[in-house]
Amino acid sequence: MRAAVSRLAPAKINLTLHVTGQREDGYHLLDSLVVFAEAGDLLTLRTGPGLSLDLIGPCAAALAPEPDNLVLRAARLTAAQGVAFTLDKQLPVASGMGGGSSDAAAALHLLAEARDLPLPGTEALMRLGADMPVCMAAPAPQRMRGLGERVDPVAGIPALWLLLVNPGQGLSTPAVFKAMTQRRNPAMPDALPDCPDAESLCAWLAGMRNDLQAPAIALMPQIEALLADIGAQNGCLLARMTGSGATCFGIFTDETAMRAAATALSAPGRFILPTRSLPSP
Ligand code: C5P
Repeated sequence: MRAAVSRLAPAKINLTLHVTGQREDGYHLLDSLVVFAEAGDLLTLRTGPGLSLDLIGPCAAALAPEPDNLVLRAARLTAAQGVAFTLDKQLPVASGMGGGSSDAAAALHLLAEARDLPLPGTEALMRLGADMPVCMAAPAPQRMRGLGERVDPVAGIPALWLLLVNPGQGLSTPAVFKAMTQRRNPAMPDALPDCPDAESLCAWLAGMRNDLQAPAIALMPQIEALLADIGAQNGCLLARMTGSGATCFGIFTDETAMRAAATALSAPGRFILPTRSLPSP
């Protein structure tokens, strides 16, 4: 057995997030195009007594400690023992980038790889969180439907220069869903168009939506100004919020424009991450 194995838990970005209905149990039906960034948290697995989790990194302080952390809840699904995890938390929590689910998915992949433990089924994953199935399928672009349990790889999505900006405050996902005024919205078309480059993809994305953006703005009005600021930067092709917020992203024509925007938008208390999303294989 190797002494330590590490895996990136990439940031998740919802390029679109259509809310198409609500079930009687309150959960919402979704249709979302998801990509993953080259950047994220880093999870390391070592041998140790029992099952433990150490939190380090710039965003660790805001995180739920043992025993409730999603990494440990995921590991318990596999009855893992003799495992000491270290999570280097680089992404802000409650930020719409799927951090907790991405960390938990990385834990399950590490346990499968290093300890030969089986990956849990979709039902068990959904009990951990609706973003778990899509995060298990990372890092290739995916379309997520149903409550999050239906995940299909999407072909033809190019790599994107992505600037992620979080205003420095968390938003509660249930609160954002609750603030929706219109819960039945059109889905994306059945067949997604072929978009060979960022320009054509963004032209299509502009006609799509994140239906959680308006309720998030109602709860946190500075998101609207942030989106306008990102959209006004040179080379910005699209500005939108990811997930239930409050992180917003800009898609840029090229790396130079993205890095210039990162400098222009940096402000005290803001989290800014210039990165790139991974293309379809
Ligand atoms: O599954 P997860 O813990 O990520 O969901 C957080 C909250 O988001 C849920 O409690 C629910 O309020 C809302 N949600 C929803 N419909 C979904 C996924 C999440 O209403 N499909």
